[in-house]
Amino acid sequence: MLVHAITNASYEFAADVRAGLDRPGQKELPSKYLYDDVGSALFEVISHLPEYGLTRADERLLQRHAGEIVERLDAPVAVAELGSGSGKKTRWILEALSRWQRTFYYPVEISRSALVMCERELSDIDSISIVGFEREYLDGLLEVAAHRQRNQHLFVLFLGSTIGNFDRPAGVKFLAEVRRILEPGDSLLLGTDLEKPSAQLLKAYDDEIGVTAAFNLNLLARINRELDADFDLSQFVHVARINHEARSVEMHLESRRRQTVRIPAADLRVEFMEGETIWTESSHKYSSEEVFQMARAAGFSCEAQWIDEQWPFAENLLVAE
Ligand code: AVI
Repeated sequence: MLVHAITNASYEFAADVRAGLDRPGQKELPSKYLYDDVGSALFEVISHLPEYGLTRADERLLQRHAGEIVERLDAPVAVAELGSGSGKKTRWILEALSRWQRTFYYPVEISRSALVMCERELSDIDSISIVGFEREYLDGLLEVAAHRQRNQHLFVLFLGSTIGNFDRPAGVKFLAEVRRILEPGDSLLLGTDLEKPSAQLLKAYDDEIGVTAAFNLNLLARINRELDADFDLSQFVHVARINHEARSVEMHLESRRRQTVRIPAADLRVEFMEGETIWTESSHKYSSEEVFQMARAAGFSCEAQWIDEQWPFAENLLVAE
């Protein structure tokens, strides 16, 4: 597998940490930084937790409906996946496709270790060529589109409700940007987690054995490792909150006391009040009807939708208009 490297990554990380922590009001860190090698491995564990049914729902739908999904595509297709993770749940789609064509599969990931795992997981599939891009989603997709062959349609996978980690307007804007890179007739399989009771969501994002807490706290450990900071992890606690207005679950890191943290590589000293939080992620939840409107607003039409009954989650097939 070919891996194209990111440049200036730590400079950007320092700049984003500075912008997020050196501001009046709510401190914030972009959720994409949760996924270094340790964070990606912890997320993989989260996806097996009994409280977190999202990944299993996504997998069930793909396993059950992969044949039906690929039958709806205009052949031949090349597959690009935005945020492939381990690639485990993509197997069903790639196997269904490779029954009738040689398939080029382009995982786009910011985590190199996830790309390596993904290739290991999927390389045994017949008639498949895997080329990974260690890139941000849109940069990677632009490169994939530049490599497309004439008459080949692109089939983009954006699974696992990663769209939910954008706020609603930013989610539609992101879909519109994906649409701009595509040609009419290309398609996008979009996974969206659906609304469910608050108590169930709070357990899913604050599990009993503390894996999600470790996933969240690893962001501070990462800043210590990469930016030479002195966060004392024992003085921050993971908190999951429902935001009813935004229809989301938020993850925060709450300071247990008044404290000062130094982050030399970001040229920063940050003061925390007792109880003050850093907002690290939001996971928005959708109604099944809302996905049709989001698709339309972004220049797609939602042609089919499959819903898991056990853990309300929808797989949506969007076609570029
Ligand atoms: C990757 N993303 C869709 C997950 C989610 O559910 O928002 C990330 C996650 N955060 C905590 N648990 C899982």
